[in-house]
Amino acid sequence: MAYERDLEFIYSNPTKITYREKCVEDAGVEVSELGCSKAFLVTDQGVVEAGLAERVQKALGAKLVGTFDECCQDSGYHIVEKAAEIARENGADCLVSVGGGSVIDTVKAMSQLVKSGGKLADYEGAQILTEPQTPQVAIPTNAGTGAEVTNVAVIKDWDRHLKQFFVSPYIAPNVAILDPTLTAGLPPMLTAITGMDALTHAVEGMVDAPAEPLVDGLCLHAIRLIMKNLPVCVENGDDMLARGQQMLAATIAGIAFSNSQAGLVHTIAHTAGGLFGVPHGLGNSIMLPHVMMFNLEDAADKYAMIAEAMGIDVRGMSDMEAGEAAANAIMEFTKKLGVPQKLSEAGVPEDGLEQLAEQAMSDGTIIYNPRIVMDSSEVMELLKKAW
Ligand SMILES: [Fe+2]
Repeated sequence: MAYERDLEFIYSNPTKITYREKCVEDAGVEVSELGCSKAFLVTDQGVVEAGLAERVQKALGAKLVGTFDECCQDSGYHIVEKAAEIARENGADCLVSVGGGSVIDTVKAMSQLVKSGGKLADYEGAQILTEPQTPQVAIPTNAGTGAEVTNVAVIKDWDRHLKQFFVSPYIAPNVAILDPTLTAGLPPMLTAITGMDALTHAVEGMVDAPAEPLVDGLCLHAIRLIMKNLPVCVENGDDMLARGQQMLAATIAGIAFSNSQAGLVHTIAHTAGGLFGVPHGLGNSIMLPHVMMFNLEDAADKYAMIAEAMGIDVRGMSDMEAGEAAANAIMEFTKKLGVPQKLSEAGVPEDGLEQLAEQAMSDGTIIYNPRIVMDSSEVMELLKKAW
């Protein structure tokens, strides 16, 4: 059993979580409770067009001092710096993000510049900050990234074509407002791939977490919720019960992931996103079963627990057999969700695989994969299978 060894860990979840249908209406109250009165809203065009930004603007009322709506998929340094400058000009004392992971991460990165000044490049890496930054309220409009509760911002460096990490407990949102009605209009494919990001957090989160007694429980419950509710959300986006359960699953997996380490699935998804613009959840969805097979010997005990949580009858199976069954079941699951199965369908050119394999070796997450990756040829083999 995995826990029969000396344990040593720190576990933390600094974010207050509020959950209820239509609780987005409490955004202004949450800003006040943080001791703030000048909220700056950050979002993207899609959220504006869906009428969701307006709901938050209304809720903020007189506390709203400005809105920035130029975020995009894989938000870049220039966007973070521009938005932070406008927030400072408007005298913002609180940042409110409304959107997917990219918007929420943009605001995490901004919180450093609004409070402490300088250029975003000054804060690259882990544990650079020594004190709390500008308070943030995160309002997710999809159910996947868990960004509303994590202590990391991933921002794309458009010049270098790679994704850069900013890791600190001081950039985790202070409050996460989980309102499933905000996800009602999310199209089936986006629902599916963001949901698969959450499933990936739950699976990868389990295999390299010092705080495993806490993290495993969160991950396993997130997996159960996702297996049951994600197909319903994809089938019928108006099912608020399923939307709510999926939203909670994503947040639960996010809390776990924030107390764990990413592995090779995220390594490849980050790199494929940086090089070829592959959406994060799609990259994860395609790579997850392949990486599970790659890791099988080193993570079989955890994968067997995952298989059980997925509803597979593991009686009589060895851990290796159960782990393999889990990987196969995930592939079947994504097929049924209608998610593309191959990197070739996700915009990765065949002649780009070599570069992808090589660049993946320098992504910060690769060292945490349970099976040590010796060189890029091993990644290349995996990519060929997934292409
Ligand atoms: Fe992710």
